[in-house]
Amino acid sequence: EEARLCLCCRKPDEPPLIKGWIPFIGKALEFGKDAHGFLEKHKRKYGDVFTVQIAGKYMTFIMNPLLYPSIIKQGRQLDFHEFTDKVAPVTFGYPPVLGNTFHGLWEQIKRSFQLLQGDHLEPLTESMMGNLMLVFRQDHLDRAGDWRSGGLYEFCSSVMFEATFLTIYGKPASGVRHRGMDDLRRDFNKFDSMFPFLIAQIPIWLLGRTKAIRQKLISYFLPQKMSRWSNTSQFIQRRSELFEQHDKLKDVDKAAHHFAILWASVGNTLPATFWATYFLVSQPQALKVVRQEILDVLRDDGVEFDASRDVLLSKEQLDKLIFLESSINESLRLSSASMNIRVAQEDFSLRLDNDRSVGVRKGDVIALYPQSLHLDPEIYEEPQTFRFDRFVQDGREKTDFFKDGQKLRYYLMPFGSGSSMCPGRYFAINEIKQFVSLLLLYFDLQLEDGQNRPRLDSSRAGLGILLPSSDVRFRYRLRAD
Ligand code: HEM
Repeated sequence: EEARLCLCCRKPDEPPLIKGWIPFIGKALEFGKDAHGFLEKHKRKYGDVFTVQIAGKYMTFIMNPLLYPSIIKQGRQLDFHEFTDKVAPVTFGYPPVLGNTFHGLWEQIKRSFQLLQGDHLEPLTESMMGNLMLVFRQDHLDRAGDWRSGGLYEFCSSVMFEATFLTIYGKPASGVRHRGMDDLRRDFNKFDSMFPFLIAQIPIWLLGRTKAIRQKLISYFLPQKMSRWSNTSQFIQRRSELFEQHDKLKDVDKAAHHFAILWASVGNTLPATFWATYFLVSQPQALKVVRQEILDVLRDDGVEFDASRDVLLSKEQLDKLIFLESSINESLRLSSASMNIRVAQEDFSLRLDNDRSVGVRKGDVIALYPQSLHLDPEIYEEPQTFRFDRFVQDGREKTDFFKDGQKLRYYLMPFGSGSSMCPGRYFAINEIKQFVSLLLLYFDLQLEDGQNRPRLDSSRAGLGILLPSSDVRFRYRLRAD
């Protein structure tokens, strides 16, 4: 591998190689600080395909979104799962799934993802609606009249965390809400702030109390506890059943798998919900259009909104909320920084387009970094501006976006691509729609004066939706009409 660093050993068709990055794990985090700036700078210098030696790996970045389809298509030579099975187990604390120990488990886990989609979406969406309404009623709809103020991130994340938890894992043995949700969320946030270090494979014993916190989080999901919960989603029920079929999985391993799903289901959803809400509240005109759209969809089905009663938005109704969906997509465009990673399974020639291929070696990582596409002024005019209707055209979802005069197949990729695409994406969009709808229907909302748009905290660059670097103060009161 050292050979590649020496010019005479390079193969002629290999992409330009950027060195000077000592193969040391800490450098990966430095990269994370300004991945977008770093990649744009190198694109200007080396063109749209180049290799960076980073954290002891060779990563080839494909910077031109017109080339994405050919990368996403080459699933046979470019595998995703080898990467997850190395990284996820050390991050969440369960034994690797691939290999001979847990025969068939990998495929079973993959199949369980279907329970988040298709026909299964309807019961999930219905359950989420009830849980959101429950948390809203008990925590926020109890007092009429006066303005109340709070942190917007805190507000969005406390409601979404609990309602999502109830929907996915179910209700406690007694009562309708789990005790200790705030503590659980606080521990979750502590773990989440260490997440980039764990993913970068920094040993957990170097990360202060992270291991103890993770153990505590995992212990929440021990089988003897979970078996007492009711209304558990089919998704989690199926996973519990299949874990029982594997004698070699210890109870803490099963719990760690369930904990990983907690991260997957709220780690990105909470910041995504914040950004969608923030941008709408920061643009009263946009908020007005979206609120009216929700009222109209209800009215079309003969429902006059009445704040004293619970609102029900079905999956079909949510599907009709085009401006809300566009607002959510627009905020995902502005806040997502996930990296799509594939590992080369053999030495081969990676076909980029009709007349271009590059040489790739076994073990090389091929990476797409869609943030650079999301912020490309040629594709999205004034890319830093939130335009709530950017994804609407003639009353329907807009899907044509162009680069170099060619229509892009992939123009919005917060959920990844191809074989590694997020199985929870439909549920995620629905639950954000439900949350924002309730907020707009029940409350008047304002940002407190004198606050700038929060910057993106880039410590999670490459891993998903970025958090705001600080919370935003806002006011809300029950709408009187
Ligand atoms: C995987 C994004 C919400 C479950 C992923 C990946 C992305 C992503 C980018 C792929 C990771 C990669 O390619 O390395 C998001 C975003 C969300 C969201 C932006 C919210 C806005 C959810 C929800 C659930 C979920 C609500 C479950 C209820 C999963 C699971 C995987 C995954 C299980 C792993 C899939 C696999 O191993 O093949 N998500 N996600 N996600 N997501 Fe999501």
